Amino acid sequence: MTIAKSVDKLITVDGPSGVGKGTICLLLSHQLGWPVLDSGALYRLTACAAMNDGISEHDHEALEKIAIALDVRFESGADGLRYFLRNEDVSEKIREEATGNMASKVAAVEGVRAALLEKQRSLANEAGLIADGRDMGTVVFPNAPLKIYLTASAEERAERRFKQLKDKGIDVNIRDLVADLTARDERDSNRKVAPLKPAEDAVVIDTTELSVAEVEAKVLQLAQQCFS
Ligand code: DC
Repeated sequence: MTIAKSVDKLITVDGPSGVGKGTICLLLSHQLGWPVLDSGALYRLTACAAMNDGISEHDHEALEKIAIALDVRFESGADGLRYFLRNEDVSEKIREEATGNMASKVAAVEGVRAALLEKQRSLANEAGLIADGRDMGTVVFPNAPLKIYLTASAEERAERRFKQLKDKGIDVNIRDLVADLTARDERDSNRKVAPLKPAEDAVVIDTTELSVAEVEAKVLQLAQQCFS
């Protein structure tokens, strides 16, 4: 078994789909100058590769092989990181709802999680890291000095995603979004390996009634207390 690296400059941010982890991690990244590990993107890229190859969610052996051999590249673009899978730019494709749903199924496969574990741990170094995911504080970086767990009701998260998608000109039904998020929460929280849950030493922040600025202020205060 590999022992998790102890890194001084590390913040884990876990929580369910659509809670705003990505936004908060980016804001933290700008403030602290530390890069973000978007671990969900790794599961989405694995899902994308599986869908391209026509692999079923039930074929765990094939999914594990895909994760082990994942041929990905990241490039920074004007609007953030661009993701390349086998040299194809899949930055938009990995954000589609269908890819997210497949990612949640792929993420329940033990062999897939094991294959992606070392890839994630290798990104923690002296430059600092903000790790965004579901099991960052519990499994991937159990020694992180600051662990944050963001939560919000499914209705509020659906509402936020609805606004995001509407701004992009994508038409969706809010009831479908609630159903989708609830199903994804169920899968992420009830799987056997690395289920979604706060680490025992995580600071839990319920963001249902909070603005982005209020969450950012809380999180920055925690970071200042921990790292100064
Ligand atoms: O954060 P996201 O929506 O991009 O993640 C996509 C899926 O990947 C999500 O349903 C759960 C899974 N995931 C995971 O199991 N563990 C992580 N550390 C990150 C994501």
